[in-house]
Amino acid sequence: MRDSVNPVDRFNRWFGRARAAHDPMLDIAALATAGANGTPTVRFVLLKQADDRGFVFYTDKRSPKGRMLKENPSAALAFYWDRIDRQVRIEGSVEEVSGEEADRYWASRERGSQFSASASVQSAQLENRADLVARVARLKRTFGDKPIPRPSYWTGFRLRPKRVEFWVRGASRLHQRELFVLTGKRWKRVMLQP
Ligand SMILES: Cc1cc2nc3c(=O)[nH]c(=O)nc-3n(C[C@H](O)[C@H](O)[C@H](O)COP(=O)(O)O)c2cc1C
Repeated sequence: MRDSVNPVDRFNRWFGRARAAHDPMLDIAALATAGANGTPTVRFVLLKQADDRGFVFYTDKRSPKGRMLKENPSAALAFYWDRIDRQVRIEGSVEEVSGEEADRYWASRERGSQFSASASVQSAQLENRADLVARVARLKRTFGDKPIPRPSYWTGFRLRPKRVEFWVRGASRLHQRELFVLTGKRWKRVMLQP
């Protein structure tokens, strides 16, 4: 193992390259969680921030993923950028962002998304789509042009990375893989076989 650079910096460099290549999956990550019973579940989320504190996405914490993260606050993210032939996998522990941070992001969202998030109980069974549309219409009448407050259940989660793997496609499947593991406060880097 060798001492190495911070994987978040490398993630952001790769993210910049994927953006420059107009990768359609730029900020879309598969998020894997498992609750107390250990059954894994995966779905896509949008990455909203990546810095030394971690990787942030937003959701409805009453959802299955929110419940799982409460029972077992660890998760994994996977990005795949086809335009640059790269994958990044991130594993670590998860914590909720502060109320102020969630408020700031909420305020930056377009109003239509705010109404939708306010009207929906994410992943709860829906008997009738018309009911949901009516709830949105009621909220629009109630709030008019006034600011829509962030629902307390709608928040962000920050994944603090402990393991980050960078994968670059190689010819004849001889891919290049590097794994960064947080040991104490330092990142150690190893190469992995394809
Ligand atoms: C491209 C894409 C981006 C998505 N981004 C988010 C997101 O940022 N937050 C979110 O809660 N759901 C997002 N979803 C919906 C989730 O994939 C999922 O359907 C929803 O969060 C419910 O997941 P759960 O029942 O496992 O909690 C996205 C779906 C797609 C296809």
